[in-house]
Amino acid sequence: MNIKIDFKRITLSLAIVLFSIAVQSQVKNEKTVIPKALHGIQMDNEGNLFTLNKDGVKLYDTENPTKNVLATFESVATGVKEGIQFDFGDKDLNGTLVYGLIHYSDSKYPLPVYRSKKSKIVNGQALVNFRYLKGNYDMTGWEDSKKGTIGYRVISANGSILFDGKVSFSGNGPFQVVNTIVSGPFINLLQPDGVTISYVSSEKSICSIKVNNKIYKDSKATKAHEIKIDGLHPETKYSYTLKYGDLEQQYTFKTNPLPGSRKEFVFAYTSDSRGGAGGGERDLNGTNAYMIKKIMAVSAQKNIAFVQVTGDVIGGYKASKGEMLLQYRNYNTAIEPFAHSFQIITQMGNHEAYIKSFRDKERKYHVRTDNFPYSTNSSEVLFASVFTNPHNGPVSEDQSKYDPDRSGVDFPPYDENVFYYTYDNVAMINLNSDYWYTPSMRNIPNMGGNVHGYVMDNQLKWVKKTLETLEKDKNIDHIFVTIHTPFFPNSAHIQDDMWYSGNNMPRPWISGKQVDKGVIERRDQLLDLMINKSSKVVALLTGDEHNYCKTEIGPKTIIYPEDYSPKKIQLKRTIYQINNGAAGAPYYAQKDVPWTPFTTGFTTQNAVCFFTIKGNSLKMTVVNPDTLEEIDQLIFE
Ligand SMILES: [Fe+2]
Repeated sequence: MNIKIDFKRITLSLAIVLFSIAVQSQVKNEKTVIPKALHGIQMDNEGNLFTLNKDGVKLYDTENPTKNVLATFESVATGVKEGIQFDFGDKDLNGTLVYGLIHYSDSKYPLPVYRSKKSKIVNGQALVNFRYLKGNYDMTGWEDSKKGTIGYRVISANGSILFDGKVSFSGNGPFQVVNTIVSGPFINLLQPDGVTISYVSSEKSICSIKVNNKIYKDSKATKAHEIKIDGLHPETKYSYTLKYGDLEQQYTFKTNPLPGSRKEFVFAYTSDSRGGAGGGERDLNGTNAYMIKKIMAVSAQKNIAFVQVTGDVIGGYKASKGEMLLQYRNYNTAIEPFAHSFQIITQMGNHEAYIKSFRDKERKYHVRTDNFPYSTNSSEVLFASVFTNPHNGPVSEDQSKYDPDRSGVDFPPYDENVFYYTYDNVAMINLNSDYWYTPSMRNIPNMGGNVHGYVMDNQLKWVKKTLETLEKDKNIDHIFVTIHTPFFPNSAHIQDDMWYSGNNMPRPWISGKQVDKGVIERRDQLLDLMINKSSKVVALLTGDEHNYCKTEIGPKTIIYPEDYSPKKIQLKRTIYQINNGAAGAPYYAQKDVPWTPFTTGFTTQNAVCFFTIKGNSLKMTVVNPDTLEEIDQLIFE
C-alpha cells in the first residue's frame, strides 16, 4: 500500500484546529472572567466555572435550559389569511390562548377586552381567527380601518397564566403583523419642566412622541425607547401621542410642581408584589398581577402624584436572563395601563436576583451568587435595563477601601438601583440592601459576596452626602428613606434583614476577607445618619416582611439583644418604620421581637399606604386594595 503523507495539509489542518480551539476558549474566557472581589470560584482547563461548597463538593456553573422565557411568548406571531398565527417554538406547550381587541382610545387605562371564544394551543401553535372579532365584536372598527392591536393571554394545560402579550396588525384578511408597542409607554423621571417616556417596540424602529405640538423622535432605530421631553411648565397636564407606523396611542401626564410649592399631594407606597397564592392572576408567571393592578387602580382613584414600589416585584432568583425578563415583562404589563399616565418608581429587592447557579451532577447541592460579568450580567444591570430610574446614585463599591483592584470592575453598578428623587417638598431616597447579593449566604465565607440586608461602604457614604444635601435644601421638608429590608423585621425575616436574630456577625466578604462592620453596626450607622444627624427624615419605607406594620423607632425603642457587646447608639428623636410588604406575596404572621411593644397596626391583609402631604403636615392612611377598607392611620407629629 502506497501511503502518501501530505505534511503541508496536515500542518494547515492542525493550525486551523488549534486556532479555532484558541478562539473558542478565548470567547469562553472573555465571558467568564472571575471578579476579583469573589474568592473560591475557579475555572477548569476547559473554561468552566466551578466552586467548592463548604463540604468541599465541586459545583459547576449551570444554567438550566428552559422555554419559560420572554422570547417564547413575545414577537412570535405572523399574519395569515384568517388572522394571526402564533408559533411559541415549544412543542411541549399545550393549553389555551385567550385574545381580544385593545381599544386604545375609549378609556384612560386601556386593557384587552377578551373574547369568550378561545383558541387552543397545540404543540406550541395557535391561530387567532379574526372571524370571531368581526361584526358585534369589532369594537375598535378594525374591519374598516384595517389596523389594530390584540391582547393575548397564554394559559398552560394546567390552568396557569404564563403571559399577557400584545400584537398589532394591519389588513382585514390577509393580515400582517406590524410593529407593536409590547411594553409601555411609561412615565418616568418626572420633573417640573420635563419627563422621560419609555417603551419597548417589537421591531427596531424610530417612533415619535408629540407633546404640545412638538415632535420628539428616537435618534436611531431601537427596540428600547427612552424619549426625553423638555421645556414644559410645572404642575400642568399634557396630553401626548405615541406614534408607531400607522398606529398611535394617546395619554396624559402632569408635570411636577416647583420644588417647595408646599401644595397638598398624595403618594402611594407598597412592595412585594411577586407571585402569591390563590391561582389566576395572583401568580402571573412570577408576579401578582391581580393585586398590583388593584393597588394601581385605587392609587389612580386617589389621584396620587406617584407610586413607590420597593422590591420583590417578581419571583426572580433565575439563572436564565430570558426567564428574568419574562417575569419583569409580566410585572410591567400589570402596571402599564396606569403607568401610561403617572409615575411608578420600582426599586430592587432580593427577588430581583439574577443568579449564577452552581450545582453538582446529582443536583444535591446548589450555591447561588450575583451573576457576572458585573457590567453586563449582574442583577443590578438587568434591573436597570428594564426600568428607567434616576442616575444620581453612587458608582459602585469599586474604589472603596476593600477594592482588590482599583483599575478594574470588581463590583456591580449602583446606577438606577440607588438613587433619590424629589416631588415638591418631599425627597425619596431609594437604597439597595440586596446589592452584590449572594443568596447562598452560608457559603459567603467560602466564596464572597454580600448578605441580604447590608448597605455597603460606598452606598453608606452616598447616604451621608445625600442627607447633608437635602438637609440644606430649603425646598425639602420631609425625607423618606425606602429600602427593601426592614431595620426591624417582625416575622420570617427576624433571622436576616438587618437583625439576624440579634447577631452582628453577618457581613460581606470581599476578596477572601470579611469587612469590619457587622450588619447591626451598619444598621446603627444608618440610623445615626437618618435620626441623629438629619432632622428631616420622617419614615423608613420597607418591605420584605409580607405584612403591613408600623414601628416607632425612637429613644425608648429596644433595638439590641440582651448580650450585645459592640458599641450602642442612642437615638435622639422618633421616626417610623412603615413596613408594607403586603402587595401580594405570600403572607407572614407577626413574631415576638424586642421592639414588638413599639409596633402597631399589624395586618396580613393586602395593603397600600397613602401619604398626604400639605406643607409641614403629614398623614398616612392604609387601605386594603382588594376591599377598599381603611386598615390603619397615622398623623405624623
Ligand atoms: Fe424580599
